Amino acid sequence: MTRLFGVIGHPITHSLSPAMHAAALRALKLDALYSAFDVPPKFLRPMLKALWLSGVEGLNVTVPLKEAVIPLLDRVDPGARAIGAVNTIVRRGKRTIGYNTDGIGFRRALADLGWRARPGHAVILGAGGAARAVAWELAQVRGMRLTIANRHLERARRLARWLTRQRRGVEVSATTLRAVRLQDAALLVNATTVGMRASDRLPIDPAQLRRGLLVYDLIYHRRTPLVDAACRRGCVAAHGLSMLLYQGAESLRLWLRRAPPIGVMRRALEQAVR
Ligand SMILES: NC(=O)c1ccc[n+]([C@@H]2O[C@H](COP(=O)([O-])OP(=O)(O)OC[C@H]3O[C@@H](n4cnc5c(N)ncnc54)[C@H](OP(=O)(O)O)[C@@H]3O)[C@@H](O)[C@H]2O)c1
Repeated sequence: MTRLFGVIGHPITHSLSPAMHAAALRALKLDALYSAFDVPPKFLRPMLKALWLSGVEGLNVTVPLKEAVIPLLDRVDPGARAIGAVNTIVRRGKRTIGYNTDGIGFRRALADLGWRARPGHAVILGAGGAARAVAWELAQVRGMRLTIANRHLERARRLARWLTRQRRGVEVSATTLRAVRLQDAALLVNATTVGMRASDRLPIDPAQLRRGLLVYDLIYHRRTPLVDAACRRGCVAAHGLSMLLYQGAESLRLWLRRAPPIGVMRRALEQAVR
């Protein structure tokens, strides 16, 4: 029988997940389909029920359903519960289990750039859902000092307070994008949406970018002005396609319990963004 997987969100037409996962399922020679389902938030409960009844085995969850889906699951992995967002649902028998694979995706993307988890200062631009997942992941590193810089300071402060409550002992401060200072930072992560539009400028003053700083921009649609500026100024820098790849690969591993075909998935993603 054909195995069924998919992604739910609203809207969903922009999602790159179908291209990546369909290529992976083909490469693994599985009789399986991966589809995109447009699920308006008010229909989440009945649509989810219908998908389980149709035999769907696994789902990715994207904006704006990552939080809303949590109370509808039988079990939620502690990391996803702490972050308050699920991006992967696995169905085992009749039970549904929620995970968040963004953190592991982020970590593997950094590892590709040569980043090693060690004590140091990391600056995260942004304080939304993606910043929360990144901050959570970085806070697992012993001795890590974090600065959350956001356009609206209060939101950065809220994220910093949340992280301090969740991870006792982690040093977190909050500031604005204008006031952020990178002198002693080893890692800069852009988790704002600045750079998504062709007309966007940089979220910070590029004069602060210097050799030795690792810059990761979560935006995956294109190489952003921040990544371009960072490369010009001698930083190691990349945009978010690799994180998208690795979070998807981890979803696939959770569904199938086997190694995902990373090369095939990467090529499918690169083709889809082009
Ligand atoms: N590569 C991946 O796998 C991956 C995974 C998840 C997300 N992402 C990307 O990460 C980005 C953030 O996603 P999200 O879910 O965290 O979004 P979100 O919750 O809506 O947060 C948006 C963030 O961007 C900031 N922002 C928006 N417009 C701004 C502007 N004009 N100037 C300065 N800051 C601005 C917001 O600041 P305020 O609080 O001040 O409004 C907030 O910090 C998106 O581009 C998304 O595509 C990538």
